[in-house]
Amino acid sequence: MKTLIIVAHPHLHTSRVNRAWTEIMKTHPDTTVHTLYDAYPDHQLDIAYEQALLDSHDRIIFQYPLYWYSTPPLLKQWFDEVLAFGWAFGPDGNHMQGKEIGIAISTAGSSAAYQPGGSNLFTIRTIAAPMEALTHYVGAHYLPPFVLHNVHHITDEQITDSQLAYVQHLNTVRHVHTPDSITVNP
Ligand SMILES: Cc1cc2nc3c(=O)[nH]c(=O)nc-3n(C[C@H](O)[C@H](O)[C@H](O)COP(=O)(O)O)c2cc1C
Repeated sequence: MKTLIIVAHPHLHTSRVNRAWTEIMKTHPDTTVHTLYDAYPDHQLDIAYEQALLDSHDRIIFQYPLYWYSTPPLLKQWFDEVLAFGWAFGPDGNHMQGKEIGIAISTAGSSAAYQPGGSNLFTIRTIAAPMEALTHYVGAHYLPPFVLHNVHHITDEQITDSQLAYVQHLNTVRHVHTPDSITVNP
């Protein structure tokens, strides 16, 4: 299985978590790491290139820091432009069918905050529902989200642990029997 990690972080070079995750994934076998903000500093996406990348991979992981309960804006633009009518859905729009799609995200909020009744009101699975819905819409299979919480209060050692957990996640995750999410850090 070939995995494509699409990293969307506007400040990857000063990031702790997403930069560490990107570095470890560059060493992972059968894995391509594509850092969107580096590839497109002008935000002009090369749609044909992005679609060819998708065609040549079986599993797509969108990796990003949670921004206002959503994705950084370049990833939203990527969805709008790359998952096009007639390509990802609609007549002959079958290029995503049968692929696996997952997310790997970091949050400032703690896992307790991402529970019903917590300060963020909802679970990550619920907050990331648009990712799950678009996966279903294009005929792909959704993987349980991989989540690192409380990222402003973690040690370098915990970040290293999260790198290993991320690798383990990719090595073992399946789209059948999905739990709510894989949570690394309280
Ligand atoms: C514009 C902005 C919006 C954010 N929104 C959220 C949010 O909705 N929920 C949350 O838990 N953290 C939020 N954060 C915190 C980021 O998720 C956190 O800084 C990031 O995961 C750290 O990852 P990094 O070390 O890779 O930069 C936000 C940060 C920024 C800059």
